[in-house]
This record gives sequence, structure tokens and C-alpha cells, in this order.
Amino acid sequence: MSNYHIKHLEEYFQVYRKSVRDPESFWGEVAEEHFVWRKKWDNVLNWDFNKPEIKWFEGGKLNITENCIDRHLRTRGDKPAIIWEPNDPSQPAVHITYKNLHERVCKFANVLKSKGVGKGDRVCIYLPMIPELTISILACARIGAIHSVVFAGFSSTALSTRINDSDCKLLITADGSYRGKKSIDLKGIVDEALVNCDSIEAVLVAKRTNENIHMEQGRDEWLQPLLDNASMDCEPEIMDAEDPLFILYTSGSTGKPKGMVHTIGGYMVFTAFTFKNIFQYRENDVFWCTADIGWVTGHSYIIYGPLANGATSIMFEGVPSYPDFGRFWEVIEKHRVNQFYTAPTAIRALAKRSTEFVTKYDLSSLKVLGSVGEPINEEAWHWYNDIIGKGKCPIVDTWWQTETGGIMLSPIPYVTPTIPTYATLPLPGVQPALLDDDGVEIKGNLVSGRLCMKFPWPGMARTIWNDHKRYKETYFSAYENMYFSGDGAFRDAVGYYRITGRVDDVVIVSGHNLGTAPIEDAINQHPAVAESAIVGFPHDIKGNALYGFVILKEVGETRDRENVRNEINQQIVDHIGPIAKLEKIQFVSGLPKTRSGKIMRRILRKIASNELSNLGDTSTLLNPEIVDHVIENRID
Ligand code: PRX
Repeated sequence: MSNYHIKHLEEYFQVYRKSVRDPESFWGEVAEEHFVWRKKWDNVLNWDFNKPEIKWFEGGKLNITENCIDRHLRTRGDKPAIIWEPNDPSQPAVHITYKNLHERVCKFANVLKSKGVGKGDRVCIYLPMIPELTISILACARIGAIHSVVFAGFSSTALSTRINDSDCKLLITADGSYRGKKSIDLKGIVDEALVNCDSIEAVLVAKRTNENIHMEQGRDEWLQPLLDNASMDCEPEIMDAEDPLFILYTSGSTGKPKGMVHTIGGYMVFTAFTFKNIFQYRENDVFWCTADIGWVTGHSYIIYGPLANGATSIMFEGVPSYPDFGRFWEVIEKHRVNQFYTAPTAIRALAKRSTEFVTKYDLSSLKVLGSVGEPINEEAWHWYNDIIGKGKCPIVDTWWQTETGGIMLSPIPYVTPTIPTYATLPLPGVQPALLDDDGVEIKGNLVSGRLCMKFPWPGMARTIWNDHKRYKETYFSAYENMYFSGDGAFRDAVGYYRITGRVDDVVIVSGHNLGTAPIEDAINQHPAVAESAIVGFPHDIKGNALYGFVILKEVGETRDRENVRNEINQQIVDHIGPIAKLEKIQFVSGLPKTRSGKIMRRILRKIASNELSNLGDTSTLLNPEIVDHVIENRID
């Protein structure tokens, strides 16, 4: 029996039981047998969910890049680590072998050092999906700097907020980026952001679009000449297992984004272990995760998980609709992709198109299909299964979060029987629990509740950067001695889990986690807006979309409504990014409120979703009359 690579259902149950009975020896064995440690840990685990404090492999010393690159050089030096597929299909793909990756990461690491970056310094990376993104992340890890990748679709305000929150010293960016037909002036966004960022001492700029851009004297430098002159020798910095590896921001239901902190040892072990099992990766397979590295899915399953296993991982610069809706399938044929991992929103969008976009291509290399980021509806599941997988590729519906670092609930392909819309069973070492509103664990099957974890797992985030109090309040205070995920779930008769969605004010739009409060904060700054409430409602392709209820100030009342709508969305684009735009904006004269003045979002969610027959008791509201007015004017 192997703890690391499960191949049969009976083996899964055995490994799972062991992982629960004795988590320390289970994870200790995985960590010892499959990774390179410069010094072995003193304790596998120390934990206290009340503080909260979680430490895995404490006292262990390692460098994650040694595990992801150096140790593969002898046997896999000429194997592609990364295959970069550019936006434009007429441009050649780039195969970066492990040897080449090693050289490029070392050079980049030396450039970082020459700029005064060292262990523990924060480096912000604001790059499109070009090889420099992967290389710069690994270069930070090589020297012990903490990377903070900001998705390159975020606005200048979102970028500066994140840079300032973690006092980043250096920023790595590009002149511009391509997304389908569009070319985006990334450096212009950076220049705007940096007006408000005092901590940034230097900016390294990669060339992608070759546009003429502004370079700030004394601050900005082109990256390539620095790399050309750098040495390709760079010894890995030896780090503690519990040193931070990266910060990645995720939206909260209130307040500013949360800088989730992941540490080196546990994250490495967990992402590698989950990658190997959930995709049943075999040597020489080609794995493709379509996520952007700006999200956790890209961190864990384009870079760290695959590379820790010596895998070949595709990095795709483009979009699924360019040059046409067959692009994903073309790339699968071209690179003979074996495991394909994408989001339900992409599946739904592509399923709407003619199947000729699919049947043109040979997809016979596929063995496993994955889904992540939001619940996958039954129709999309069947299309994925029948049209893409031809009924032969198990679908792994993987549930996890930025906070969990890696996949928590998922079938293991060819091992766990799948059912559409079910994330099925916990991975070994993952101990889910469902809790009721009073905080009591609901035992047994055929029950629904709030999804929690009763025991730590190695990949969990250890804190929120600079705000441990918020970490405790958000994840460990709702229920005693439990990690609370913010999601609801149902457990069926055989113990399979089905995620039912968020139970807080976070809405998952096209797989992106969006807090409604930060969007409200952004639009309330518009001079014509007095107050607003944002809720999610079901959407055919995006899963959910955003519906805004907006009260205008007197100055706004006389203005053209369409113009105000456009300005409100522009305000959101400027503060957060296009992903947070509102699908519908309804102007209202008031919002339903409780007697203590809290907006009753439950009612607004029902109105936005057109579930009007079941609004519940509205008589206790401060202003029950407003409900009819909001319903009468709702936007279909
Ligand atoms: O609501 C769950 C949903 O996405 C949330 C986490 O979002 P984020 O931190 O951005 O990470 C996304 C990629 C890991 C969860 O709280 N979610 C994620 N995967 C699934 C899901 N909902 C249902 N089914 C899934 N497979």
C-alpha cells in the first residue's frame, strides 16, 4: 500500500482510515518518502484551533525549488516542466525543460538578489500568463522571498491596496498583455497604482507587447538585460518548513482583501500529494490546468503541485474563445493533454456553442477531466462527460479554497465512483464536519449543514498577513474548535458531499470569489449614490451574477439612468476590476432593513433571483412597504 499514490477504492478507505487514526504518522511518511529535506522536522504537527496556531513539520529545513526543480535534473532534465502556449495560436509554443527552468530561475533569483531582495521580503508579481510569471514565483521561493501574485486583470486600486497591505519591496510586471484580440496596457495600470505605494523600491519590466511605455527613471528597469547578465548559479536558501512561501489575496465578505499566508513545508506536501492522486498523474503525462496563476488554482496546480511531482504542466496565455471557441480542444490535441482541469463557467460557455468546435479535434489523449471553483450543474457535467470525455474520462469535481491551499474534497479518478454535482469524498487527511446553526455537529448521512474541518491539514493557510485577529474571527470563531469554510454542503446516503454554495456575503461569479461589501464600498463612493446593496443571482453561464440595488442622492435623481449605470460599473472596474461588474442595476427609493438598521439581504437575494413566492415574513422589517416597491421595479 502506498500512502502517496492511491489506485483502488479499498486502498483509499485504508489510507483514509489511517490518516484519521494517526494523522502525524500518515503525513510524516508522505513527507519523508517523497521530498528532499535538508533537515528532518522535530514535530510533524502542533496545533490549536483556539489561538489559532497550526504548525506542520516544525524544525524541518528545505527549499521548495529544490523539490520542484533541482531533484528532477538528473532523471528529468530534458523533460518539459512547463509548456507555454501563447495567446496567438500561430506563434510557437515554448517548451521549458527542467534544466532550462533551473537555469532561468537561478538567473532570476540572482537578479532579485542584486536588487536587494532577500529572505522574508515581499515581492509583488503583476504579470500576465507568460513564462516570466512562473519563473519569478520560483525565483522568489529560491531565495526565500515571499511572493504576492496579483491577478493581472485587477485594477490599479486593487493592485496598490495589495502592495501596501504587505509592504512589497519590488514589483515585477510587463509592458502589456494579450487576451484574445485585446492588448492591455499593463504598465499604465502599474504606473497609476504606484503613485500610492511608498514601499516599492524597484520595478522590473518584462517585454511582451513591445508597446512604447513610460519607464520611470531610477525606478523601472527592463528585465531581460538584467537576466542576460546574471549568473546561472544560485544555491537555494535553506528555509524553515513554517516560513511563509507566499501571500495570496482573497475577498472577504467585508473589509479589505485578506492576504492568506501559506507556508513552505505543509503546502508543498499537500499540493504534491493531492495533485498526484486527484489527477492520477503518471510519468510523461501532460497536465493542463486552465486557471490563471493569479488565483490559487494556478499556484497549486500549474506550478507547485505538478513540479513537485516532476510533471509537465501547460501554461496557457489565451482565452477559450480566441481565435474561436475550439481553442481549448485544439490545445488538447496539439499537446496530447492527458489531464484537463478547468472551471464550470468555461464549460457552460463552451457547451453553448456548436459541438463542431469539439469534434474537429482529436481528444483521445484525455484520461481525467477536472472542475473547480464553483458548483458544476448537472447539464454542464453531462456535456463535459459526454462531449469532451466521450464517457471515458472520470470527472473530478474538486472542492477547495484559497485558504485550504489544495484540494479537500474530490473523487479520485478510476477509484471513486462519481455522481454529477458531487465533490464526493474527502482526501486522506481531510476531516470534514457539517454543523447546524447552533454549532452542533450533525452526524449521520442525508443531512445538510455548514461545512467545517475538525482537524488541520498541511496545506491550510496559517494566518492573514498582518491580521491574525481577522484570521481567527473569520475561520475559527463561528464554531468552537473548527475551521469554518463559509460554504454549505449536503452529505448523501453514502457519505458523499455536495457543495450547496456560500452561506455568507461572498458571491462566486464565473468561479471568482467576490465579497459584496467591497463592491458596495466602491460604488458608494460615486457622487450620485447614497446607498447600495449587492447580491448574487443565478446566471446561465457565470453560475452567479451580481445584482445591485442602488439608492441615488438627490443630485443623481435628475440624471440619465443609463449613464449613471455605466458610471457605477466604471467605478467598480476602477476599484476592483471588470470581473466585479454588475449585471443588473436597479434604482430604488429604499432598501428593506431590520429594526436595527441592517439590510435584509435574504429578501433582496430572493427578489434578484425572481423567487417572489417565498419571501418569508417581512412584517418585522423597519420598512415593510419598501418590499413591494422593489419587486415592482425589479429588472428581469
Ligand atoms: O464556494 C466555494 C467555491 O469557491 C470558493 C473558494 O474560492 P477561491 O478561494 O477563489 O478558490 C477557488 C479555487 C479553489 C469555495 O468556498 N468552490 C470551489 N470549488 C468548488 C466550489 N463550490 C462548489 N464546488 C466546487 N468544486
